[in-house]
Amino acid sequence: MNSLDVAPLPDTTATADDRELVIRDLHVVPVADPSREILRGIDLTVRKGEVHAIMGPNGSGKTTLAYALMGHPAYEVTGGEVIWKGQDILALSPDKRARLGLFLAFQYPTAIPGLSVASFLRTALNARRRGLDVSDAEFDPSDPTRGGIGMREFRDLVRQKMALLRLDDSFASRYVNEGFSGGEKKRLEMLQMAVLQPEMAILDETDSGLDIDALRIVAEGVNAQLNDDLGVLVITHYQRLLDYIKPDVVHVLAQGRILTTGGRELALELERSGYAPILRAAGLEVAPDEAPSGDDTSVA
Ligand SMILES: Nc1ncnc2c1ncn2[C@@H]1O[C@H](COP(=O)(O)OP(=O)(O)OP(=O)(O)O)[C@@H](O)[C@H]1O
Ligand SMILES: [Mg+2]
Repeated sequence: MNSLDVAPLPDTTATADDRELVIRDLHVVPVADPSREILRGIDLTVRKGEVHAIMGPNGSGKTTLAYALMGHPAYEVTGGEVIWKGQDILALSPDKRARLGLFLAFQYPTAIPGLSVASFLRTALNARRRGLDVSDAEFDPSDPTRGGIGMREFRDLVRQKMALLRLDDSFASRYVNEGFSGGEKKRLEMLQMAVLQPEMAILDETDSGLDIDALRIVAEGVNAQLNDDLGVLVITHYQRLLDYIKPDVVHVLAQGRILTTGGRELALELERSGYAPILRAAGLEVAPDEAPSGDDTSVA
């Protein structure tokens, strides 16, 4: 372990299931329109050390899945379970899910004026280090001997991770996402991931809005973090990101269901033929924009 890396996190609920996130028959509706089922029974298992990609047409439910996993209040889970570290996390607040090592990089990150990137990261890291036991009176966020992270150690950690993502030092003192370009927003999501060192990371459209150089930097940032104790679920439309972040498994999500699962070659196949053949094989209607277009306009 590199001396700048944070200390191992306390193991809150050691069980035999600790190495996998298991989603079973997950059904989700938006709170704003509960009559409309977006996810219609998702089954998916991601093990630590694996990279899974979820691909699928616009509006198929990819972001809804990411939000439901993190506990976004706009979505209601109407059926199924999500087991992580021996418990059904659907009963937990988003904050507790994050403390258990789950991480979501947003498709559309929001600005938090007045809160600097550094303060934000430090608060998040301390929460993560503290784990679920918030009643632990011994914990002191600024005292490394009492579970927290010292100012200097924190600064070194953030600097190291910013260098990895080729972010300028001044980035840390800017307000979270305030006036950030699309690429900077994505890089901040990756910086959070690098600092928090999650055990299961969901990356939603990490590629959108990135130019080709930034895409490479972000992908290198993710790749540098891959290890046996990190599972990754990458949500993307396009094969291009998967040229850089190589998935072990590729799933196709359409109309709220996983229609097919394969290896990397499935992503290449989608690039060639689009989603139409898979939708037709599943007996689903093919909308015009799901027919193959052959061109990749994802990367601005
Ligand atoms: N809060 C909400 N209220 C109402 N409808 C919603 C809500 N969130 C999502 N939906 C609908 O659910 C469907 C799936 O949306 P979602 O954002 O999950 O798709 P996606 O697969 O991420 O699409 P994209 O590839 O465009 O990012 C869409 O038709 C969307 O309009
Ligand atoms: Mg989406």
